[in-house]
Amino acid sequence: MILKSPRHATVRKATRHDARAIQTLMENNWAVHTRLMPPEIESRLRSCVGLLVEDDVTVRAFTLVEPQPPDAGLLLTLAIHDNSAIAPMLDLLLPAIERELCAQNLKFVMQIGPAQWLTDLLPAYGFFSESQIVTFEWRFQPLPTISPHPKLEIVPGHLAQLPALLALDKIAFGPTWRKPRTAFKDALGGAVSFNVGIIDGDIVAYEWCDMYGDHGHLTRLATHPKFQGQGVGAQMLHGAMKALIARGVRTITLNTQVDNLPSQRLYRRFGFTETPQIVDVMVKML
Ligand SMILES: CC(C)(COP(=O)(O)OP(=O)(O)OC[C@H]1O[C@@H](n2cnc3c(N)ncnc32)[C@H](O)[C@@H]1OP(=O)(O)O)[C@@H](O)C(=O)NCCC(=O)NCCS
Repeated sequence: MILKSPRHATVRKATRHDARAIQTLMENNWAVHTRLMPPEIESRLRSCVGLLVEDDVTVRAFTLVEPQPPDAGLLLTLAIHDNSAIAPMLDLLLPAIERELCAQNLKFVMQIGPAQWLTDLLPAYGFFSESQIVTFEWRFQPLPTISPHPKLEIVPGHLAQLPALLALDKIAFGPTWRKPRTAFKDALGGAVSFNVGIIDGDIVAYEWCDMYGDHGHLTRLATHPKFQGQGVGAQMLHGAMKALIARGVRTITLNTQVDNLPSQRLYRRFGFTETPQIVDVMVKML
């Protein structure tokens, strides 16, 4: 029986004691935007805002939102019990998310595909499609020859460069694409490849790659606008791909905006091809 009117349902903050119930909800139901594994549920509950809807019987819905100061809150996951209608659960969860993010002075909440059932419903709650993201894929092939920039020096990224990297990230990317400080800190300590490009003592570019088995992912590539179109991006990308290949990687993926043609030209030159995977970035201003 589908619970249409959640008369006895209430929203509250989730704690680590709810991890098992959340895991059961994610494993056994259909309407789940991004399933998380049990260790991740617990660790995310420490760093994110977790909210759940429950009634006398069970946990009906759960969501986890990652605050990404200074502006964004990212809806990481949302799960709804098969026996509950989706809209009444969103009626309860979405305003609660907004209250939590407003209390942290964040400016917008966003959700990034691929759960089409959720993307389709969000406009009714004031969300709009801010952009679309396409995945590109590279399968092993020789890299193109590049002409090195005469002044560019590429060195491993270091924690001491964090403020300069955050400043560069802010200039290179729009608000919905900015990575939080914590993600940079983790990546500087542990990413498979994280290098910065320096010209005359200033950080002008950086690349950051992750690896999952023998699959590499170019998480980030950016050149300061003043230095774009001089071959810096190509040289950073070349170095990153060589590092991944040396570690046994045979496929590399990356995400970019559907309308980011300069980046797509660069990636195509390196043998990346567009996949059919396109998702919306849904945003609601708070
Ligand atoms: C995408 C991005 C990283 C490319 O960096 P870049 O340093 O400008 O890249 P390059 O200079 O190597 O290549 C860009 C263009 O400059 C051209 N170029 C390269 N060397 C050149 C030179 N010496 N003189 C003139 N043009 C040159 C390239 O041929 C290329 O032209 P094309 O796009 O017509 O083929 C950069 O535009 C950027 O940071 N954008 C914002 C962030 C972003 O979108 N990142 C990627 C999405 S994750």
